[in-house]
Amino acid sequence: MAVSYRIDGDMAVIEFNQEDAKVNVLTADVLREFQDLLTKVQNISGVKILLITSGKKDIFIAGADIKEIEGITVSADGEKKSRAGQEIFNLLEDLPIPTVAVIDGVALGGGCELALACRYRIATFNEKIKIGLPEVNLGVLPGFGGTYRLPRLVGISKALEIILGARALSPEEALKAGLVDRLYPQTGLWNSVLQFVDEIRDVKGRKPGLTRKKKGWPGFLDYNFVGHVFVFDQAGKSVRERTKGFYPAPLKAFELMRETFNAPRAKALGMEAKAFGDLVVTKTCKNLIKVFYLTERYKKFLPPECAALQPKAVKKCGVIGAGVMGGGIAQILSQSGMNARLKDVSYEAVAKGLQSAAKIFEQAVKRKKLKPHAMTATMLKISGTVDYSGFQNVDCVIEAVVENMAVKKKVFEEAARLVPPKTLFCTNTSALSVTEMAKSLSDPSRMIGFHFFNPVHRMPLIELITTPATSAQTLCDALNLVKRLRKTPIIVKDSPGFLVNRILLAYINEAGHLLQEGAGIPLIDKAMTDFGMPMGPFLLCDEVGLDVGLKVLHLLEEGLGERFKAAPVFAQIFQKGFLGKKSGQGFYKHGRIKVANPAVTPGLLHDKTALPSARECRERMIFTMVNEAARCLEDRVVDDPATVDVGMLLGTGFPPFRAGLLRYADQCGVENIVETLNLFASRPAGARFEPCAYLNDLKSRGKGFYT
Ligand code: NAI
Repeated sequence: MAVSYRIDGDMAVIEFNQEDAKVNVLTADVLREFQDLLTKVQNISGVKILLITSGKKDIFIAGADIKEIEGITVSADGEKKSRAGQEIFNLLEDLPIPTVAVIDGVALGGGCELALACRYRIATFNEKIKIGLPEVNLGVLPGFGGTYRLPRLVGISKALEIILGARALSPEEALKAGLVDRLYPQTGLWNSVLQFVDEIRDVKGRKPGLTRKKKGWPGFLDYNFVGHVFVFDQAGKSVRERTKGFYPAPLKAFELMRETFNAPRAKALGMEAKAFGDLVVTKTCKNLIKVFYLTERYKKFLPPECAALQPKAVKKCGVIGAGVMGGGIAQILSQSGMNARLKDVSYEAVAKGLQSAAKIFEQAVKRKKLKPHAMTATMLKISGTVDYSGFQNVDCVIEAVVENMAVKKKVFEEAARLVPPKTLFCTNTSALSVTEMAKSLSDPSRMIGFHFFNPVHRMPLIELITTPATSAQTLCDALNLVKRLRKTPIIVKDSPGFLVNRILLAYINEAGHLLQEGAGIPLIDKAMTDFGMPMGPFLLCDEVGLDVGLKVLHLLEEGLGERFKAAPVFAQIFQKGFLGKKSGQGFYKHGRIKVANPAVTPGLLHDKTALPSARECRERMIFTMVNEAARCLEDRVVDDPATVDVGMLLGTGFPPFRAGLLRYADQCGVENIVETLNLFASRPAGARFEPCAYLNDLKSRGKGFYT
C-alpha cells in the first residue's frame, strides 16, 4: 500500500509512503488508492480538515511515474491518463473542508500539482525542498491541472516562468511567489501544523490575506489586461528564442496557458489533457526521457570494485593553480562545504583566483540564489598561499596549473612531501598523460585525472581518468568527491584527449577542413546550431581559446596519428594572434556585435564552384564524431556507448532532444553512416574519414551501438 490515512480528532491525515521505494511517485495504482481514500474520508462524519503528508524523508511526492509516460505511444491514451489524474485532483479541490499539503521534501511535477489542488500549502525550511513543474524537461507539460491552477495561484508571469523554464523553487522562493502559504522549522513541525490548522479551521473558503497581493510592476503584470499582453508577448519571444524549434513542449505549454488563462476549469483542463496527449508521443519526449534515465544512472554510478569500499571523507582540498580553472574549482569546493587552500606562484595570481570565485558567488547573490551573509561565510572557506602552507592537513590535492608535464610533475612532487599519507591526488589536465604524471608520486595508485569542464560552476560533467596504477580506493574517493560537488562522473581510461576532448577536437578539426575548402564560418556554425548544438564549432573555438585548442590537437596528433593533423587554418590564425574571445578576435570579431572575422577567410577559398553544402558540413562533422566515438569504444577508452552519450551531452551540450551522439547515430542507421563516411573517404585526402573497425563490424552484423 502506498497511501494510508488516519483520523486524529476532527482531522484526517492522508500519508503517501510507497513501500520498498526511496521516493513517492504517482503511478496509476497510487492515484487510484489516493482516489479511494479521498472518497472514504469525505464520508467520515466529523472530519473537518484534511492534511496530506509524506512518510518519506526529504520527499513529498517526486512526480508522476516516468516509466508510465515513456510507455504511452498513442495520443488518446496520453489524454486519457491526464484526464484520470485531473479528475482525482478535482475531487480533492472540490472537497468542502479545508485541505492542507504539508511539504517537507521534494514536490515536483504531479506532486506539486497535487499540492496545488489543496486549499493551503505549508512547507518547512528544509533545504532539500524543491517545488515546481519541470515537465517540459521531459518533453511534456503538466497534465494534472498544473497549467490551470498555478497561474491562478501565483499570477501568470510567475507561472510562465516556472512552467516554461522548468524552474524548481526553494521553500523561500515558493513562499515569496505565493506558492506556499507558510514556512515552518522542521523541528516541531507537527505543532506548527496544528497551529496552522487552528488558524484556518473555521474559515469558510480560503482564509483571506494569506497570499499577499503583489504590488508595483509584478502586480501590474498579473492583474492588468495590458500587463498580460506584455507578459505573453515577452514569454512567447523568450520561449521561441530558447527552444529554437527543437523542443515543442515549452511552446505548447505557452500557447495553452495563453488560451486557457481566462477559461473555466472544465475547458482549460480539457485542453491541457489534449496538449499532454499530443506531446507525450513525440520522439523528443521519448528521447528526453532516455536522457533523464541515463544521467540519473550515471550520477549514482559505482563500479563493482568500489562497492565494498568506504570513501575517504574530504574536508579540505589543496588546489594548485589559481587561474581560470583553479579559481572555479576552489569556488565549487567551498560551495559544497569543503575548505580550499589555493596555491599559486604569486599573490597576484592567488588574488585573481579568489576574485573569480567571489564573482561567481556575487552573481548568485544578485540572482537571489544566495544570501550575502552566506556568501561571506562560504568565501571564508577559501584561503590563499604561495608556498604550500596549510597543505599539511589536506585530504585531497587538485592540480590546475598550466598544461605542461614538467610543471605538473614538479608541483605534485612538492605537494606530496607535505600532505598526509592517504591524500587523494587529482589532476585537471585536459590531455596530458595521467600515467606519466603519476610517476611523480612515490605511490602512483593515489593519482587520478579529475577533468572539470569550463566554466566549472556550470558544467555538470567530470571525467575521471584512471591509469593502470589507479587503485579502487582512489577511484572510490574520487567518485565520492564528484558526488559531493553534485556533478556527474564518467570513468575514462587514460589515453590522448581522454573521451570528450578527443571526440570534440575531431569535430572542430573537421570544421577547419570545411573552412579550408571554402564553406564560410557562418554556414558551418549555422549547420551545427541548426542541428541543435548550443554554438557552432568556430564560436566554441573562440570561447575556449585557439592556443588551448591547438595544443590539444597537437597532443592528439602525436598520440593518435595523422587524422588529427590540425587543418592549416588553425595555425594561420593563431600566428596572427587571433586567440578568440580573450584577444578580442578569433574566427569572430568580438565587439558589441559578433561578426565572422573577414581576416580569417581570404586566401582559403580554393574552389568556389564546389562548396560543401550545409548538409555535407553537418554530416562530415557529426559522422566524424561518431567514427571517433566508435574508435574510443574499440580502444576501450570507455566501456559502453552510454558513457559516450553522457560525456557528449553533459560535456559539450550535445542536444538532449537527440538523446546523445550514439543514440542519434542509431537513429540515422550505422549502415548509412558507414556508407557516407566511405564516400567522403574515397575523395582526395579523405583517409581521415575511413570508418573504423568497430563501425564496420556493427554494420556487417546489422547492429547499432545500443542494439
Ligand atoms: P591558467 O593559465 O588560467 O592558470 C594556470 C595557473 O597556474 C596560473 O595562475 C599560473 O600562475 C599557475 N601556475 C603555474 N605554475 C605554477 C606552480 N608551480 N604552482 C602553482 N601555480 C602555478 O590555466 P587554466 O585554463 O586554469 O588551466 C589549468 C589546467 O586546467 C590546465 O591543465 C588546462 O589544460 C586544464 N583545463 C583547462 C580548461 C579551460 O577551459 N581553461 C578546461 C579543462 C581543463
